[in-house]
Amino acid sequence: MYTKINNFQMYYEEQGCRQPLLLIHGFPLNHKMWEPQISSLSAQVRVIAPDLRGHGFSEAVPPPNTRSQSYTMEMHADDCAALLDDLGITQPVFIAGLSMGGYIAFAFLRKYPERVAGLVLAATRAGADKPAARDNRLKAVVTAREAGVGRIVDAMIPSLLSPATYTDQPDLPTRLAAIMAEISLDAMVGDQLGMLERPDSSPMLDQINVPTLLIHGAEDQLIPLEDFRIMQAKIPISELHIIPGAGHMVNMEQPLQFNRAVSEFLQRKG
Ligand code: MLT
Repeated sequence: MYTKINNFQMYYEEQGCRQPLLLIHGFPLNHKMWEPQISSLSAQVRVIAPDLRGHGFSEAVPPPNTRSQSYTMEMHADDCAALLDDLGITQPVFIAGLSMGGYIAFAFLRKYPERVAGLVLAATRAGADKPAARDNRLKAVVTAREAGVGRIVDAMIPSLLSPATYTDQPDLPTRLAAIMAEISLDAMVGDQLGMLERPDSSPMLDQINVPTLLIHGAEDQLIPLEDFRIMQAKIPISELHIIPGAGHMVNMEQPLQFNRAVSEFLQRKG
């Protein structure tokens, strides 16, 4: 479905009823990464999975600040809040964010704490980018502008899945690349700059007062387990679920285990 919010057409999927669960996708993805969750968790809760601006079926818009090309994490969080407003959802929602989706979940919690009932943070980190990561993002921006988004997608695919996934589920890398290739150049540049600028969310961890489920793919090549152990130690009401046989795209690689962890968490905390 489409709706006009914040001056662009946002696409979203919505299925199920009762407690809302907002699924925020990672970079450079869209709602399709959540297909195994939308079909399964909608039996239990009201699942809402938007395409962030410039991703998937959502319209790409130049950012309001024309000096910067950034799609900041706060801007994405504002778009998610506007979508909830548009759907008439005033009750607190559960938010599940994977990777960049987790950065956006932190931004949402910072700005709209009263709208959050609980968090699922998957394959993400609280810290800001280190200098080397910032340099890489700036290089990626140049490459995307010169060579197109496909070049970045091709470079990312080898690090997104666990080694076993490439052999045991040979169709998944192809499917993942196809979803990633649906991003606009505006969003690819905007997200990279927005992630580069994002603040360190570590100082807020010990103030998070909603139940939080942390999900880590045991073979994630991008986010070390140590980052999750730190989040678990600091977030007061948190639990850590480590999923074997999964890398960064843990929800797509091991959907049954991922769905069971989220479903049981929602059952207990919802
Ligand atoms: C993602 O999966 O959303 C990205 O790997 C996040 C990042 O680039 O930091």
